[in-house]
Order: sequence, then structure tokens, then C-alpha cells
Amino acid sequence: MLIQYIMNAIITLIIWELRTENPELKIGKESRIVAQRQQGRKRRLSGGVMAHFGVIAGSGLYDIPGLMIKETRTVHTPYGNPSAAYRIGTLSGKDIAFLPRHGIDHTIQPHNINYRANVWGFKELGVQRLIAVGASGGISSDMNPGKIAALDQLIDVTHGRPSTFYEEGKVVHIDFTEPFCPDLRENIFRASEKAAVDVARRGTYICTNGPRLETAAEIKAFSLLGADMVGMTAMPEAVLARELEICFLFITIITNYAAGLAGSTLTTKEVLNEMERSSARIKSLLQVFFDQQFAERRCLCTQALQDASM
Ligand code: HPA
Repeated sequence: MLIQYIMNAIITLIIWELRTENPELKIGKESRIVAQRQQGRKRRLSGGVMAHFGVIAGSGLYDIPGLMIKETRTVHTPYGNPSAAYRIGTLSGKDIAFLPRHGIDHTIQPHNINYRANVWGFKELGVQRLIAVGASGGISSDMNPGKIAALDQLIDVTHGRPSTFYEEGKVVHIDFTEPFCPDLRENIFRASEKAAVDVARRGTYICTNGPRLETAAEIKAFSLLGADMVGMTAMPEAVLARELEICFLFITIITNYAAGLAGSTLTTKEVLNEMERSSARIKSLLQVFFDQQFAERRCLCTQALQDASM
């Protein structure tokens, strides 16, 4: 009995030692993530171009004019492969990593995008500020095709999309009251004035799973819930960026009236045509945006993990 007690104590001590030495054993997956992030940091230091800004773009936006590409980087993440290799370049003295979220040939559907790999890849590249661009259907009466809006709120009705980096181990509840970085939003409004490109200051985006478009009844219901526009990609992109303490901004282009509001059926051609029409405005908006001076980050995005774990 006594011998067994001593043996148990010794085994417990050995396990405790191992755990403190090896973070992978400490609290499961969450620590593994931290360890991998540290490895990533080492890798970054050992070579390759770093980027402090990221742009993740959807249908119709495949480049930023003036972005001088220095490197095309394939990143492998613990969550699998991002949608494409990141193109890293400079614009107005800023290092920017660019990624098409649907892949280079637009073959990845919204529900199949590996959002975790995409956002993790940006983090690996050193990105602190991520600007997302995507199309959406207008629901509220002021959201007509061609309108550009910087989202300020989100409703998530997607399902089955891995939407956290904290699946096992540590329990983390990130604050998501304001899903978009307030400082980046101010930066885009300043750019909007300078570039003379109108950007709506508010918009509640409801994120559906797709790939099908919505029914007319769904759009009516979403309107009652307070949604101004509907799209398929802002979630979980926004929350994953917050979990990695990356500042995140989502600019949407209204490409069509949402289902049932225009009295006709919707076509992807309509969406793509409007994106094409609007892409020049988006591009000049981004050019002026990157031309600004950015102060050191002081927003709450930088401390998202503080007081977030149980
Ligand atoms: N619904 C969902 N996603 C979209 C739409 C839409 O009407 N338009 C562009 N993306």
C-alpha cells in the first residue's frame, strides 16, 4: 500500500516535470498552437519577406494596382493549406500580403474555404492589420448595387465551418461585441474622403453558408433581424482574426439586390458584372488607404486574448 502510494507520487512528479518542460503536453491543443506559433516566429526570422498588412479578396479583385510583388510565398499551417500562395509586395512603403480567398482560379466555394489556414497564414507572415473585401446582396433600402460599405456588425448563420483556433484544451471566449477594428474603420473613412469614393459607415452583414443563394422568405426574415446586406464569407474570417489579435476590416460591395427584392431571379453573372464595375473604385480606395500613415496599434484587438480564457 505504502509502496504503491510512493510510486504514484513519483509518477505524478515525473508527469508534472514533463508538462512544464514541454508545452505541447501542458494544455493540449491550445499550447500546441502557441508552440507552433513560436516555431513560426523562428521561421519568419530566418528569412523571407514579412508583411504588416494583409488583403484578402473575393470575387473580382485579384490584385492591387501599384503593389510591387517581391515574393510569392506558399505557407503550410497546422490547419492545412491556405487558398493560394500569398503574394507579398510593397505599396507606399508598406509590406502587404495578398490572398484571393477563393483561390487563384476562383474554384473554392465559400463553405469550403479553409478560413483557419488563410488567417493563420497571414499571422505567420507577420500581418497585424487585415483588410477583407467581399461581395454581398443588398437588403436595406439604401444598399443598392454599386454601394461600398465598411461593415460594423455581423450576424452569423453559417454552420459546419471550423470557426475557432481553440477547439480543445483551454476554453477561450473572445469578446466580439464590436467585430471590426474601430481604428481600421476610421482609416478607411479617411481614405474614402481623400479618394472621393463613397463608403457607407455602417452595415450589419448576415453571413449565410451558401453555396446556394437565399430564399425570398429568408431575406425578409434577415431584414427583420436587422441585416443590411447578405454575404457568405465574413464569418468565420472576422472571428479568427480576432482570436489571433489581428485588426480586421471588411469592405463589401453590394453587387445585387438580395433575393426577392428585385422581382427577378439572381445570377452570378450579375454579381461578377457589378464587381467588375466597382473594382476600379475599390482599388483606388485601397491605394489611398495604404498611402496613409498608420500609428502604432492601440485598439482592443491587440489584447483580445486578455481575460478571454476560463
Ligand atoms: N447572397 C449571398 N451572398 C452574396 C450575394 C447574395 O445575394 N451577393 C453577393 N454575395
